[in-house]
Amino acid sequence: MDSLIINGGKKLIGNIPISGSKNACLPMMIASLMTDEKMTLNNIPMLSDVKTLISILKSLGTNIEYKKDNLHLHTKEIINHKASYDLVKKMRASFWVLAPLLAKKGYAEVSLPGGCAIGTRPIDIYLEMLKEMNIKYSINNGYIVAKAESPIRGLNFKLEKKSVGCTHFFLMLACLANGTSKLSNAACEPEVVQLGMLLNKMGAKIRGLGSKKIIIEGVEKLNGINEIVPSDRIEAGTFAIAVSATGGRIKLENTNYDENKTLFKILEKTGSKINKSKNSINIEKTNDEIYPVNIKTSPYPGFPTDLQAQIMTLMAISNGQSEIKENIFENRFMHVQELVRMGANIKLDKDKALIRGTRSLNGANVMATDLRASASLIIAGLVAIGKTTISRIYHLDRGFYNLECKLNNCGASIKRISE
Ligand code: EPZ
Repeated sequence: MDSLIINGGKKLIGNIPISGSKNACLPMMIASLMTDEKMTLNNIPMLSDVKTLISILKSLGTNIEYKKDNLHLHTKEIINHKASYDLVKKMRASFWVLAPLLAKKGYAEVSLPGGCAIGTRPIDIYLEMLKEMNIKYSINNGYIVAKAESPIRGLNFKLEKKSVGCTHFFLMLACLANGTSKLSNAACEPEVVQLGMLLNKMGAKIRGLGSKKIIIEGVEKLNGINEIVPSDRIEAGTFAIAVSATGGRIKLENTNYDENKTLFKILEKTGSKINKSKNSINIEKTNDEIYPVNIKTSPYPGFPTDLQAQIMTLMAISNGQSEIKENIFENRFMHVQELVRMGANIKLDKDKALIRGTRSLNGANVMATDLRASASLIIAGLVAIGKTTISRIYHLDRGFYNLECKLNNCGASIKRISE
C-alpha cells in the first residue's frame, strides 16, 4: 500500500490544471449503455474509480479503449445483465448501471452497493422509484434482481430527500420510458446537469435540468456522442482551500467559478483573495491571519459535503472558534481524530464539529480513512511543522488525479512511497 511523506511549511505558488470530474464522468460512462452506437468521452481522469467502472462496463458487453485521456466506449449489445459484487463493492456508484440495464433490456441483477466509511448509504429511495415504475424486484444473496416491462412506463416521482444518485438514476430510466415522466425535488448539482445535457445531445428530451423539477419525454432510442468531461469542481475547491491554508498564490486552470461560488465566498471571509477570469481562477493568500467561519454542508448550491473535510483543516489553523455541521452523511468526520493527532483542537457533538483554531499543526503519522479525508490530511501535512506520513493513500487515488505532482509543481514537498 502506498503512503505519502510531506515536509510541511512551504507556500504554494504556481498554476494547477484541473482534471476531468470524477463525479461527472462516472454517470456519463454509465450512459454509454443507453445506446448501441459509439460514445467518446474526452478529458477522462484515469482514477481507480474510473478503472473499476471500466471493468464493470466491459463485463456487461461494452467495448472500451483508452487513448490519450479519451475513452472510447461502444456497447453494440448488452451481453450480460449481472454487475458483480466484487466490482460494485469497490465503487458504489456502479450500482447506477441498474437503470440503463432496465431501460434497455428490462432485466438486471446488480449487487447491492453496501455502505462505506462515510455512511450506510441506503438505497431505499431507488427501490421506491422502481416500485413506482411498476418494476418488479427481489433481493437475494446481496443482489437486486429486477424485471421491467419494455419499454418502462413513465412516472411522476418526488424525491423525499435531495439525492444526486437517485436523480441520475431517474434521468437514465425515464429518457427511454413510454410517455412523460416528472421528477420533483431533483438534485441540482452540476454533475446532474452534465449527465442530462449528455443524454439530450444523444437524443433524449429532458427539461428543467439544474432546477428542482425535471420533465422527461421518453424517446425510442439514443444516439452515439463525442463529449468532453467537465473539470472537477471538488478538485478545484480542494486546491483553493490548500493555498488558503499554506499561503501563496495559485492559478486554477480550466475551471468554473460559479460551480464553487459558495466555497469561494467562504474563502474570502477567511481572508483569501479570489479573482476569476474566463476559465481560470486565481486564489491568493498573503496575510497570516485565517479568520474562522461557521459552515453547514447542504445540497448544491450550498456548501458541498465533498469539501467538508478539507475546509475543516483550514478552520483548524484559524485564529478563532468555528463550527462545521455535516448534514448529508452520518459518519463523515473520520478525519477529525487524525487531525487531532496533529494537534488540532476539534470536538465532535453528533453532526457538529466544534473547532478551536491553533496557530499550527505538528507533523505525525496519520491514516487516510476515505477519499476526501485523505485530501484534508494532505492539506494538514502541507501546513504542519515537520514531517507527516499519510498511509492508505489508495483512498486518495480513487478521486484525485496526480494530486501530489500538481502540488509539488507549486513548491510542495511530497513523496509517494510504496510499502
Ligand atoms: C454523490 O453520491 C457523490 N458521488 C458523492 O461524492 C457526494 O457526496 C453526494 O452525491 C452528494 O450528495 C458520486 O457522484 C459518485 P446522494 P450519492 O444520493 O449520489 C441519502 C465523493 O467523495 N440517500 O446525493 O450516493 C444518502 O444516504 C462522493 O466523491 C438515502 O437516504 O449521494 C445521503 O445521506 C462521496 N436513500 C443523501 O441521501 C437513497 O436511496 C445524499 O446522498 C439514496 C440516498
